[in-house]
Amino acid sequence: MKTHTIALIPGDGIGRDMTEAAWSVLKKAAGAHGFALKGTVFPWSCAFYRETGAMMPADGIDTLRSFDAILLGAVGWPAEVPDSVSLHGLLLPIRKSFAQYANIRPHRLLAGVEGPLKTTRFDILCIRENTEGEYSGAGGRIHQGTADEVAVETSIFTRKGVERILRFAFEQARSRRRKLASVTKSNAQKYSMVFWDDVTKQLAAEYPDVEVTSYHIDAMAARMVMAPETLDVVVASNLFGDILTDLGAAIQGGLGFAASANINPERNAPSMFEPVHGSAPDIAHLGIANPIATVWSGAMMLDHLGEKDAAGAVMKAIEATTAAGIGTAPGRDRTDAITAALLAAL
Ligand code: NAD
Ligand code: IPM
Ligand code: MN
Repeated sequence: MKTHTIALIPGDGIGRDMTEAAWSVLKKAAGAHGFALKGTVFPWSCAFYRETGAMMPADGIDTLRSFDAILLGAVGWPAEVPDSVSLHGLLLPIRKSFAQYANIRPHRLLAGVEGPLKTTRFDILCIRENTEGEYSGAGGRIHQGTADEVAVETSIFTRKGVERILRFAFEQARSRRRKLASVTKSNAQKYSMVFWDDVTKQLAAEYPDVEVTSYHIDAMAARMVMAPETLDVVVASNLFGDILTDLGAAIQGGLGFAASANINPERNAPSMFEPVHGSAPDIAHLGIANPIATVWSGAMMLDHLGEKDAAGAVMKAIEATTAAGIGTAPGRDRTDAITAALLAAL
């Protein structure tokens, strides 16, 4: 039987319950579609940091490299480990080391989910650059704690990095409704963002069948609320994409519905699947977090692994569950009950 090996990193807070829920759904889908999922759990997290002094072992990246894919819950427990330590010790190095440069985040309303907007008919695919830009980590602090303190954090935009994410976005647009929105802030940031706009124009010549429009990030934020139905594929830099996708999550009913895939398009390293949301410390011990975002991310993983039928079945199970009103109101249904409904729908 065909077997896919999956590295499971539950992480912190609700990440543990979310991966457990998603894993049970994915395993069931695999069983019904004639393939196997073999999971190996890695306890890398803030608790692991407190025990060992590191978020993952020194050879953690090498260990992950041999897997077909990674399913991650959430990383971060700011009460005990600063986010600047935990995220730079686990999540961000995985994205960068494995050149998972395309972060794909779909925003649409699932059947039965009431979003906050009047408009219900939108279907946006955000493509976020995931390895450089504002998240490059180039910078430093000097004279810390003194009146002469200086902090520098430089965004890095490379020709290779910008071109590959834009090309990926053009291809996605071509496979959908052939509309691409490229998001920058080139009226204020005159080097990196003007460069991004220039590369967008250069590539547009290769994709005459795709209608491309450049927007400023501030205008895009408003558009996603006022006229999301006018958008198809939206491509943005690392930080802009991060912010826009929490906005995307909000218009689709909340972070409990927002899925995400960190893709290495060349497939020379594993891709990673995780929800958009974090560890939700405010509700972590209540058992009420919505697992749908992680289950949907798992469906994206099955799709990436070539298991299209199983991925489709998981998406159908999600929509059948929400159409029946289960998991649609924040905090009402328990994680266990939503998971049970998903399994029954499968
Ligand atoms: P968060 O996404 O964890 O939570 C924001 C709000 O959304 C909270 O009110 C939370 O209860 C709610 N929420 C999130 N997921 C939910 C779900 N599945 N069901 C119902 N409600 C849900 O963001 P935050 O509070 O800013 O961050 C908490 C920690 O998570 C921090 O350490 C942060 O750095 C980290 N974080 C990690 C990731 C990741 O691992 N990919 C993503 C975002 C934040
Ligand atoms: C996300 C998260 C991360 C990001 C944080 C936790 C570093 O917010 O995946 O959206 O900004 O990429
Ligand atoms: Mn985010």
